Amino acid sequence: MYPAVEISLNKIIENAKQMKKICDAKNKSYCLVTKVVSDNKEIVKALVENGINCIGESRIDNLISYKDIEAEKWLIRIPMLCEVQNVIKYSDVSLNSELVVIKALNEEAKKQNKIHKIILMYELGDLREGCSKEELEEIIEETLKLSNIKIYGLGTNLSCYGATIPTKENMNELVSVAEELEEKFNFKFELISGGNSSSYKMLKNGELPDRINNLRLGESVFLGNVPCFEEPILDFNRNNFILKTQIIELKEKASVPRGKHYVDSFGKIPTFIDKGIRKKAIIALGKQDVRLDCLIPEIREIIVLGGSSDHIILDISDCKENFKVGDEISFKLTYGGVLSLMTSKYVERKII
Ligand SMILES: Cc1ncc(COP(=O)(O)O)c(C=O)c1O
Repeated sequence: MYPAVEISLNKIIENAKQMKKICDAKNKSYCLVTKVVSDNKEIVKALVENGINCIGESRIDNLISYKDIEAEKWLIRIPMLCEVQNVIKYSDVSLNSELVVIKALNEEAKKQNKIHKIILMYELGDLREGCSKEELEEIIEETLKLSNIKIYGLGTNLSCYGATIPTKENMNELVSVAEELEEKFNFKFELISGGNSSSYKMLKNGELPDRINNLRLGESVFLGNVPCFEEPILDFNRNNFILKTQIIELKEKASVPRGKHYVDSFGKIPTFIDKGIRKKAIIALGKQDVRLDCLIPEIREIIVLGGSSDHIILDISDCKENFKVGDEISFKLTYGGVLSLMTSKYVERKII
């Protein structure tokens, strides 16, 4: 059936193993961030069977699905107060930046007779989650009094909101904050989790400080890509997710709409270039499933013109293929494209 995402699982497993080798050689561990496959047990199980021992998810629902998979489970988004019961039950580790949440986790951990590990987040410039050093001091002082919470590590996240890249300067800052806190409170962080796939280049070049002994990696493993720098990783498999769609209409049409126009169905004013009459295909997929700028046609001559909730309009005038209704059109995908298509219930997932 269409639309479908074809997933080359073996290629992803190869990447995961390759990444493990790189991390092992540099004395780092990595938590594989599996959220891009959106609750797909078959894929996550296969990765764990092939040596992945730690998985990270931002939605607790996915960790609930993976409850029978033997791996350390991290909740990588700060827990909501309304989900602490499931966080304690289904995750071993969570990333945290709010004392009120940590205290709620402690109360729940007591009820479930568990010790829950937390990684405190330090805000290193990207302006998403995380605390200042002073805020961390307050949190640690209180957390050390809690019976069922173990401070496991210090972490940071970059390149997601503010597009701040990892550098020697900010990585050293993370280490020196960790060491100042360790000295002040006379304990040691077992883990310093220095970031996500945007740290791949520093990892590979041996530029991460020794004390940073963990990364949380998703895109680099699943897509063979370094986000933020938008660079492919040489020797890693890429295009491990291919979208297959079907043509539902194929006709020659003008390139500029007729009549008076204003905003489209998403409230945007569209622009058009007059190229005369063009051969256009409509595929059965829309903005409800994916952002159009996440689609990279496999046939280079295809132009994604635009779309609405359920229709995407392609200009196929320059293709040498003689398409007809019912034919398949394939796309490579960006990370964001994979993420939303894997989440859409209207898109089939085929592991090949
Ligand atoms: C806290 C956190 N860590 C790690 C990751 C993984 O990021 P990437 O896919 O760039 O490796 C994400 C994003 O998914 C995240 O939110």
